[in-house]
Amino acid sequence: MKEAIQVFDYAEQITKAFQKGILLNTNGEKFNSMVIGWGHLGILWGKKTFVVYVREGRYTKAQLDRTQEFTISVPLGEADPKITKICGMQSGRNIDKRDVAGLELEEPEVIRTPGVRAYPLTLECKVLYQQRQDLSALPEAIRTQMYPQDVDSTAPLANRDAHTMYVGEIVSAYIIR
Ligand SMILES: Cc1cc2nc3c(=O)[nH]c(=O)nc-3n(C[C@H](O)[C@H](O)[C@H](O)COP(=O)(O)O)c2cc1C
Repeated sequence: MKEAIQVFDYAEQITKAFQKGILLNTNGEKFNSMVIGWGHLGILWGKKTFVVYVREGRYTKAQLDRTQEFTISVPLGEADPKITKICGMQSGRNIDKRDVAGLELEEPEVIRTPGVRAYPLTLECKVLYQQRQDLSALPEAIRTQMYPQDVDSTAPLANRDAHTMYVGEIVSAYIIR
């Protein structure tokens, strides 16, 4: 069962959960989840939005570019270390994370990408806009720290490539009960 929520009532919970690792789910070639630690909940162009930052070589990026939609799954308690390890350190290019991490999925309401039952606060989002970061425009300290260019693009800890920002319009928000 889905309990509809006013997403801004959960702003503090969602924002704090970035420190535990939220899931960014896509459903292109197959369902895939990746852990994210960066993002924002807010308003853009008068719409409720959720913004994510995805590095170039992620399997998630290939799926997002194709489907232009994603779900966000936020843990309401502690993060599950198994999910963090598998979804944050391995690529959907090499494994089926749904099987390996034992993710139970919840049918979406508006889009085609399911949520993850273990992380019940769910946002369904349609991509409104995407833009690759211009590394030359970043403060040098951030460029040096975050983009040191010594780990190859498709490795889970890749640091060579810029992130692409995806602005998602939140088209449905609920807690899976
Ligand atoms: C705590 C944590 C936070 C992360 N945050 C991000 C992020 O915001 N953006 C990103 O591109 N990768 C982030 N990653 C790395 C991806 O989760 C990781 O590379 C993952 O294996 C990519 O999966 P995929 O290739 O299936 O898309 C994070 C990893 C961890 C463990």
